Amino acid sequence: MATLSTRHLLGIKNLTPEDLNLIFETADSFKEVINRPIKKVPSLRDTTIANIFFENSTRTRISFELAEKRLSADVVNFSASSSSVKKGETLLDTVNNILAMKVDMVVMRHPSPGAPHFLAENIPANVINAGDGTHEHPTQALLDAFSMREKLGDLKGKKVAIFGDILHSRVALSNIFCLKKLGAKVAVCGPPTLIPKHVHELGVEVSHNVKETLNWCDVANVLRIQLERQDIKYFPSLREYSQYYGINKKMLDSLQKEIIVMHPGPINRGVEMTSDVADSKQSIILDQVENGVAVRMAVLFLLANKRD
Ligand code: CP
Repeated sequence: MATLSTRHLLGIKNLTPEDLNLIFETADSFKEVINRPIKKVPSLRDTTIANIFFENSTRTRISFELAEKRLSADVVNFSASSSSVKKGETLLDTVNNILAMKVDMVVMRHPSPGAPHFLAENIPANVINAGDGTHEHPTQALLDAFSMREKLGDLKGKKVAIFGDILHSRVALSNIFCLKKLGAKVAVCGPPTLIPKHVHELGVEVSHNVKETLNWCDVANVLRIQLERQDIKYFPSLREYSQYYGINKKMLDSLQKEIIVMHPGPINRGVEMTSDVADSKQSIILDQVENGVAVRMAVLFLLANKRD
């Protein structure tokens, strides 16, 4: 049986194109499973998984939990806000206490970049990064690429533009790594203050012109303005941002071709895109959410096969 080159999923950066294709092929099978009347397989019935979230989440947390339950794993959910972390317990002590209860895999979201890497070096369980600060969000990039691949086939040579707050986005970095490994052409577009200075070194085009970039791309992946990570003002106001960098239906209708519109969520409707874009037939935002379960099932299943 084909296996991944890693026993943890910490980011896309160190995955091989073969790893990515193995995850997509496995997710194809699990997508078929979750559309059956009985959406469950016994693959992980000997596995206990802890979902440890130190930051808010709707999609990722529910999607992992559903993926684990569809694979018949035992699941425990941990939220930092209602835990003994509030009494001063360290990350490592918290996780070691959870592991003492015989947990095999840990899915963790944490505000600090590198927190899942630290865990992976210090605990025996498989670790999956569910988003570490502004660094990486690997399962989001996998489900994004899986969703693009479902619509466009092989992504080699396809043009993907990532719009918005690239500077603070873990989704942008993981998407760039993933899409480049799959042979796609990638551009980032947003205000100069929200584009990292050295991003071109990752092999992406940089643009500040939304209309030009929409005309260029096959897929527009539009990101949220991450106000919670912005400690200074990067643009004068949300109204001005939406006027100059927001995507509206008139812009889409003026293009020569029909492009695909994506968003990882949560959406700020009326800021990065208008509601008629988010809800248009070009939008595959809810397909992304559906595919997230199948892709996370694939990741969990493949990593479980790499257990010591
Ligand atoms: N896309 C994403 O990570 O959403 P949540 O923050 O709701 O998990």
